[in-house]
Amino acid sequence: MNESVSVSSFHYLLHPYNTSLVTCCDAEGQPNIIAIAWLVPVSVSPPLVGMSIGPRRHSYKLIQASGEFVINVAPHEIAQQVLFCGRRSGRDVDKFAATGLTPGQARHVRPPIIEECIAHLECRVVQEVEAGDHRLVIGEVLAAYTRPGVLDDNGLYDLSRVHPLLHLGRNRFTSTLAQSTEPQLLT
Ligand SMILES: Cc1cc2nc3c(=O)[nH]c(=O)nc-3n(C[C@H](O)[C@H](O)[C@H](O)COP(=O)(O)O)c2cc1C
Repeated sequence: MNESVSVSSFHYLLHPYNTSLVTCCDAEGQPNIIAIAWLVPVSVSPPLVGMSIGPRRHSYKLIQASGEFVINVAPHEIAQQVLFCGRRSGRDVDKFAATGLTPGQARHVRPPIIEECIAHLECRVVQEVEAGDHRLVIGEVLAAYTRPGVLDDNGLYDLSRVHPLLHLGRNRFTSTLAQSTEPQLLT
């Protein structure tokens, strides 16, 4: 017998998701960090990424006003800081100061990158779709780069060297296995 799940919890059945720290900043350049798990690539050419974000989040207001954000892919080592950035609001606390995460200069946008993260996607907002209680913010990826040595020869994460943080749901996280598999494609 299948087990029924309340449809209001459907999204947990799609986790674990890669978890990122998205940076944004206000008109004075004061940066904020939000934990975001609902991220999806939506186009390769042009390079577009979709981010589902609640309109009441402080970060949403900053991103809407500035039109810029940076997706910083988090390693499992900083799970505690990610949880903090996902449970506290930048309205009340300076999340860089509170977590000790290190801001770095981005190449094309004003929000900083986070030095402790594995990879960085600098984005400019090109579209926004109202979707229920969230907004699907679509960003064009202006630049994408990683910490040195985290990719293998095929441009994929080398899982013997990095372990991206995955959000299982609520306050629980997991990560990748040290090995990856490449199954044979059935014909
Ligand atoms: C692991 C994790 C993932 C999250 N993913 C999302 C997400 O995809 N979209 C969203 O709107 N909020 C998400 N949140 C909630 C926001 O990070 C949270 O509301 C945050 O405190 C908002 O901060 P701000 O008010 O400074 O913008 C997530 C929280 C956690 C802990």
